[in-house]
Amino acid sequence: MANSRQLSPGIFSVGAIDWDRRLFDALIPLPDGTSYNSYLIKGREKTALIDTVDPAMGDVLIRHLSQLGVKSIDYVVANHAEQDHSGAIPLVLEKYPEAKVVCTPKCKDMLIDLLMIPEEKFITVNDKETISLGDRTLEFIHAPWVHWPETMLTYLREDKVLFPCDLFGSHLATTDLYVTDEEQVYEAAKRYYAEIMMPFHTNIQNHLEKLKGYEIDIIAPSHGPAYDKPSFILESYRSWVFDPPKNIVVLPYISMHGSTRKMVEYLVEALSERGVTVKQFNLTNIDIGKLAIALVDAATIVIGTPTVLVGPHPNVAYAAFLANALRPKLQFVSIIGSYGWGGKAVEQLQGMIPNLKVEVLQPVSIKGFPKEADFQALDNLAELVARKHKEHGFA
Ligand code: FEO
Repeated sequence: MANSRQLSPGIFSVGAIDWDRRLFDALIPLPDGTSYNSYLIKGREKTALIDTVDPAMGDVLIRHLSQLGVKSIDYVVANHAEQDHSGAIPLVLEKYPEAKVVCTPKCKDMLIDLLMIPEEKFITVNDKETISLGDRTLEFIHAPWVHWPETMLTYLREDKVLFPCDLFGSHLATTDLYVTDEEQVYEAAKRYYAEIMMPFHTNIQNHLEKLKGYEIDIIAPSHGPAYDKPSFILESYRSWVFDPPKNIVVLPYISMHGSTRKMVEYLVEALSERGVTVKQFNLTNIDIGKLAIALVDAATIVIGTPTVLVGPHPNVAYAAFLANALRPKLQFVSIIGSYGWGGKAVEQLQGMIPNLKVEVLQPVSIKGFPKEADFQALDNLAELVARKHKEHGFA
């Protein structure tokens, strides 16, 4: 049992796989479940536990530790205060009362606040501070805002292993310790990036630059499998945070009686004929993770909405709120849709996306079912989008 959880000599994966969880933060869909990875590092003199697990699965962590014959733990490293990693710290401290919690000063305040851990249990560490386990050294790299303000990464120097907690993670339940199916993990990691990390992509740019100074053989995040070929995930992240957007339009929409739908169909063809890739999402029944993934690379979002009670359809308002919160690299926005007798759907939607530093391309808001002049307006919009993408060199 123990050896099957060995990441490399003396480093064990002791966390929990949550195969059945389907929603995170009561918000984010988890089509493939998730895992809460916790890692035990045995040094010649000291033993450290990197992160714990969601409190609902604390018993699994304790069982894995006991199966490994762990009699004492010196340090519980809390890279992040969110409860899916910190929630079982009180249980670990109960079973291993000699252990100290190692974290950033900000994380200490949060753990006292969230989990009522006594103050005397903490050792706070500065950026680049180290703790020796005897023959092994833990270096703590402050990396705020991935995705809370208190976060840090832990680097095991001699083994060249990076433990980044949420950063580089994926919501993927698997018994594989390391990535075996890169295509599957790429999709899960991109979904994770889109939903959790994208709002902080400028912080992540800095962290990636900082990590260039470290030799890394293994990345062991606290969700999903570990990477024994770290370039796979490092290069993916570099592309997501640094690359310019691509020649892609994301088009989330709702139609109640078919008019907005007809406009969407027409615009999608008009864009496609002009060489623009379109990702269309019907918001009546959508996995918002897929919309988030599409936003990572898109240059333009066109929102399609009918008018409901003078404003946009509530599902469309939700999608606009989400796009605004996720702060993707979008450069252009437009709105299309139909109304029955009037309303302010376009103005209200525009007011809901202040975070998007985008140029607004002339919306197409029409009365009733689209007619010839309306199709012409959609052709003009498609032409403008294609031209803007070309002018900016979005390939
Ligand atoms: Fe996996 Fe931010 O917790």
